[in-house]
Amino acid sequence: MMAKAAKDKTRRPQKTPVPEAAPEKPFPRRRVGQIAVLLVVGVLAMIGYRISQSPIDEPPAPPAAAIGGPFTLVDHQGRPRTWDYFKGRLMLVYFGFTFCPDVCPTALTDMGDALGILGEAADKVTPVFITVDPDRDTPEHMKEYLKFFHPRMVGLTGTPEQTAAVLKSYKVFAAKAPVEGGDAGDYLMDHTPIIYLMGPDGAYMTHFSHGASAEDIAKGIRKFL
Ligand code: NI
Repeated sequence: MMAKAAKDKTRRPQKTPVPEAAPEKPFPRRRVGQIAVLLVVGVLAMIGYRISQSPIDEPPAPPAAAIGGPFTLVDHQGRPRTWDYFKGRLMLVYFGFTFCPDVCPTALTDMGDALGILGEAADKVTPVFITVDPDRDTPEHMKEYLKFFHPRMVGLTGTPEQTAAVLKSYKVFAAKAPVEGGDAGDYLMDHTPIIYLMGPDGAYMTHFSHGASAEDIAKGIRKFL
């Protein structure tokens, strides 16, 4: 602007000088203020955008809404069972296998005891045991096993495909672990030792990690009764 103004000036006849102020007004202070405000707003918008984008770089939080879902299995009485059967009540669900020497029986005992602590209120909760070992956990075998934990506990098994699908939807890991020195059929299952509390609509409500006591579980369930 200054350069242009200087050039213009040289072209104009010297006799009629144009007042300095007319064509080249000094840059108004108000305008400077407006531009500064625009710059600040722009920078803030960029910072805001970067903050809003940043979670992409961070490990995602466990997507609670993504845990659970419809399933098709068979109960310990040999009856086909889908998610619909459990609707309308809370479902306290554990994934394990009947041959588990320690972790599973402890968790199932704690689940049964937690319902005992809750008393009548426990009627709103269905305790469920879903096997991660469908090859060995037949309905008959589960029926015998579940007697030890709670009279209303429902055992669920199915084909390897059906159980794999339910494990996937509940984000439960399970894999065969051969026993050293044992024969081919001798194996344990490595698996996620987690107890889920699912709502009457099948939505995830909370979970209890391995080591949670019956009291901890009862307290956690009571919040949702
Ligand atoms: Ni186990």
